[in-house]
Formats: sequence, structure tokens, C-alpha cells
Amino acid sequence: MSKRSFIVAGNWKMYKSIEEALQWSSRFLADYRAAVHVQVPVFPPFTALFPLHGAFRGPGLSLGAQNLHSDLQGAYTGEISGPMIREAGADWVLIGHSERRQYQQEQEALLAEKIRTALDCGLRPVYCVGESLAEREEGSHLDKVQQQLLQGIPPLSPAEWGRLVLAYEPVWAIGTGRTATVEDASAMHRHIREVLVKTHPSISFGELPILYGGSVKPENAGELFDHPEINGVLVGGASLDAGSFLAIVEEAQRRR
Ligand code: 13P
Repeated sequence: MSKRSFIVAGNWKMYKSIEEALQWSSRFLADYRAAVHVQVPVFPPFTALFPLHGAFRGPGLSLGAQNLHSDLQGAYTGEISGPMIREAGADWVLIGHSERRQYQQEQEALLAEKIRTALDCGLRPVYCVGESLAEREEGSHLDKVQQQLLQGIPPLSPAEWGRLVLAYEPVWAIGTGRTATVEDASAMHRHIREVLVKTHPSISFGELPILYGGSVKPENAGELFDHPEINGVLVGGASLDAGSFLAIVEEAQRRR
């Protein structure tokens, strides 16, 4: 059997003070044992990034930001740039999370610029795609995700494709307790690979990690990891508790 590797990512959204973040980190580190085939990036709020940079250290562990501005600097009150988050300790950045699409009206043209900026800053972008409940019910989910891929990813060199991570997060499964079935998730992951192969025939997508996100918990993570199309998970609510996040990491570590 070919060796598999996984990314188990934690998106804390707008939760945790600096103090709470540091407590979480000590609890997690007390029981964490690294495995070479599992990477664990955590995406805290901006304010906790730099404090965690000094504390959340170890093999396989890294930090990411939840957003960045598409420009490197400028008169953009309240925004934060790629070089700033990089300096604060981020190696990764989430781009196009459905909550930013919904509440900040972020659209594909802007997201493509953000992916470009992230790569230029040496960050690994995790580009999030996914359909709404209405789109799933009317059967337009495959088209929706295809559009998000084709319009939201800028032209990339083969080496840059090698640094991109995708996350499929159906909006109806986020924070609702309703996980997509493994069949739904893996069918969409297959669709994503097919769309990319068709539109970029010269690129090899065998190694492109596609994560699933939406109500992932210790109880359902194992069956997701068992599916060959699923290369990891992006965990929201269950990543806020160090014990349950670690239990998800350990599910991935048990699989190879
Ligand atoms: P939940 O795991 O809370 O459903 O959140 C998923 C998510 O949005 C991760 O980015």
C-alpha cells in the first residue's frame, strides 16, 4: 500500500484570548507525539499568532493566519498583510473561507489575488471552496465548486501548485453538527481533481492535498481519513478543545 500523509488543521475562527491560546498549547503539547506523515497547522486569531509562535513548537506543528490582504502594504485601515503574518510566525494562510465569502463579500477575483500574494510572501495558501445548502439541494454543487476553482485560483507555476492546499467545506456542514457523508465528501474531492486535471493538463495533481471541513470530530475523523480521496481535515469547533483536536490528530497518525 502506498504511504499516505495527512494535514490536520485547526481553524479557531474568532475564539481564544492570548492567555487561552497559550493554555490550549500547553495542554496539547503535554500529550502530542509527532508522526512524520501528519502535519498539524493551527490557525489562531491574529492576536494569538505571535505569542503561539514562541510556544506551539515541535515536529509537525506550525501556525497559519485566517486571512491576509491582497496588497503587501498600504492605507487599508484594519487590514493585515502577508509579510506581517509571516513575521508573526505564520507559514500558512486560509483564503476564501465561506464565512469570509458570506460576511465580507469576498469573491473569486479578490481571492485569486490573495492566493498570488500569499505565494509571493512564502505562505502556503489553503483555498476553501464549498456550496451552500440551497446549491446542494438544487444539484448545482459541482458547478459551484468548479466555478470557485476556475475563477479563484490565479495562474500558477508547477512549483506553486505544489504549495497549494484545497479545503472542501460544504457551508451546510459548518458548525451545524451535520457532516457530509464520506461518499459526498470523496465525490467532491474527486470532482475537484477532475476539474483541475481537465483545465491544467500539464500539471500533476497526484500530490495536491484536499482537506475536508465541516463538523469534523474525533468520532467521525477516522472514516474520513480512511478514504483515499481525503488528505486531511480542517477542523473548526472541535479544534478549540486541545483534547478533542489531539484525538483527531491521533486518528490520522494511526493511518498510513
Ligand atoms: P466546524 O468544524 O465547527 O463545523 O467548522 C468547520 C470550519 O469552518 C473550519 O474552517
